[in-house]
Amino acid sequence: MKELSLNILDIAMNSVKAKADTVWVTLTETADTFTMKIADNGCGMKEDFLKTVTDPFSTTRTTRKVGMGIPFLLLAAEQTGGSFEITSKHESEYPDSHGTVTTAVFNKNSIDFTPLGDIVSTVTTLIQGSPDIRWIFKHTMPKGEVSLDTNELKEVLGGVPLDNTEVILWIKGYLEEAYSETE
Ligand SMILES: Nc1ncnc2c1ncn2[C@@H]1O[C@H](COP(=O)(O)OP(=O)(O)O)[C@@H](O)[C@H]1O
Ligand SMILES: [Mg+2]
Repeated sequence: MKELSLNILDIAMNSVKAKADTVWVTLTETADTFTMKIADNGCGMKEDFLKTVTDPFSTTRTTRKVGMGIPFLLLAAEQTGGSFEITSKHESEYPDSHGTVTTAVFNKNSIDFTPLGDIVSTVTTLIQGSPDIRWIFKHTMPKGEVSLDTNELKEVLGGVPLDNTEVILWIKGYLEEAYSETE
């Protein structure tokens, strides 16, 4: 994938598919590293299954039933000299604390580091596509922070749905302005 924001979209969509009602998208940057952490309270994965999702060669092409989003992210992070970790608790074993946390650390100085790209579109696409999920987005940079919690927005909006076009445009504008203040 050319932009990290597309990896973020892909991994966050896993949380949507896992029927999470809250998804945390946390990006943390230092001068040298970029860390993306996507956490959810979805159904989670059983231990044996979790082992297979990071390995693109765990099953043959024809029998593999899962996609490549996670193996690609793992590869992208490791190619920069960074790291990757995924932990998960399945709902059958953890009825009150299930969910998944996917963390990828990139070395920004590597020639294989791809830029973040259009993160504002990624965040607005996620909110528009799944307005009933509580999205908690936070991007910490050396020069500032951009954050958004859709529950706080909902309070202000008082019943206007989050996927309303004007609301989505407002969110887009809000994020763009917040980013411009960190430049
Ligand atoms: N956050 C998550 N919660 C529950 N299951 C997940 C999560 N992320 C990934 N999975 C499981 O791992 C599989 C592989 O994910 P991925 O590599 O992104 O490929 P794809 O989404 O195309 O199947 C998913 O199909 C799903 O079964
Ligand atoms: Mg996926």
